[in-house]
Amino acid sequence: MQLFDINAKKQFGKSLRNDFIMADDYTPMNHGSYGTYPIQVQKALRDYQDLAERSIDTWIKRDMYPEIYRAKEKLGQLISCDADELAFVVNTSTGINAVARSLRFEEGDKVILLSTIYDAMGRTLQYLKDTRNVELIKLDPVYPISDDDLVAMIEDAILKEEAKTGVTGGKIKFALIDAITSVPGAIVPYERIIKLLRDHNILSLIDGAHAIGQIALNLREADPDFFVTNCHKWLFTVRGSAILYVPKRNQHLVHPATISAAYKDHSDVNDTSNTFQAEFSWHGTQDFSPYLTVFAALEYRESLGGEEKIREYCWGLARRGGALVAKILGTDVLENEEKSLTAQMVNVRLPIVAHDGDGYYLDRFIDEGVYKHKCFVPPFKHHGVWYTRLSAQVYLDESDFEKTGYALKEICAQLEKERLEGKK
Ligand SMILES: Cc1ncc(COP(=O)(O)O)c(C=O)c1O
Repeated sequence: MQLFDINAKKQFGKSLRNDFIMADDYTPMNHGSYGTYPIQVQKALRDYQDLAERSIDTWIKRDMYPEIYRAKEKLGQLISCDADELAFVVNTSTGINAVARSLRFEEGDKVILLSTIYDAMGRTLQYLKDTRNVELIKLDPVYPISDDDLVAMIEDAILKEEAKTGVTGGKIKFALIDAITSVPGAIVPYERIIKLLRDHNILSLIDGAHAIGQIALNLREADPDFFVTNCHKWLFTVRGSAILYVPKRNQHLVHPATISAAYKDHSDVNDTSNTFQAEFSWHGTQDFSPYLTVFAALEYRESLGGEEKIREYCWGLARRGGALVAKILGTDVLENEEKSLTAQMVNVRLPIVAHDGDGYYLDRFIDEGVYKHKCFVPPFKHHGVWYTRLSAQVYLDESDFEKTGYALKEICAQLEKERLEGKK
């Protein structure tokens, strides 16, 4: 059943907010944190829940599996991979944990990470350090770094390790690299990094939490060893739907974060069985309906003109909106010379001074932003400088960025006043 008239002409911008659930008086500038979904996607969720509940045994024992497979086929078409290489997981954290905690490590094994990875992912690697004696090689890029410099930073670290051991890749087992970092919200040249890692026999685990729906993905071509992406952020599905991509060659290495009845050890080199799909198809009772909102989300996106049209609008809006906010604040946009960092999220410097004990700024931005101005954008400190990240989306236009810019100006002025008065 077609939920949307894909021939209907829709206008990007504020009028599209009627398609979503957000409150009329809220300016939703923080899509990057949790995503949101159209009303029709919510309806699809509820329809699937009703379908399941009408005859839960038939649904869970039989009927839902072909639907889930069809959803993976759809996603596979979008990101160029086979449905058999995809497993649904509830979110990126779960997908990254599944991979990182499944891998087997030997004494002295190392993992590369960048200081810009998402906090929880950094803690997942810390857990590997604490429990498996894995050594972490943490690299610390300073933004706005160029793509070349970022790739070179990783290559230098690998070469250093190789010089110590005389072995390709040294003891580096894998690298956890974002496709788009959270803060700053910036595109990472992950395809180049995957190739670099492959050339050095290092597995690539890509955190694509922000990827699908924001950047074009071709996994067959990029050929990562593992890739996880949230459908519930930029693709407009309901929260609790992400996909883990594992090419066939690596499927024997991975088990779900929660071990299921289908678990089988594949460490015997003569074992050619594959339990990847079986293990990931059930790892405890849950509602599988959010996964199936992929159909409605993609139909909605088609009704807007499809992925390229959405990207064209949102990427353009992020650039124009970011420049406008920087102008209002009298600051600048965090961008490198080749302008390769900004996709749908744009980072703008805040006119506040970093000082000892300025950690309360986040709370103040929540209180003032959400409650007073009814819009919130996350502030963050990068190498001693405060920025904020603004998310462009189909339901926004420049006037939303303008409103946010003036709200930020007021909040920053208040914080600076308090600082100068020695209140904080
Ligand atoms: C880069 C990155 N990785 C991982 C995550 C975690 O995503 P989730 O909460 O859906 O697991 C986020 C969340 O914003 C993120 O920005």
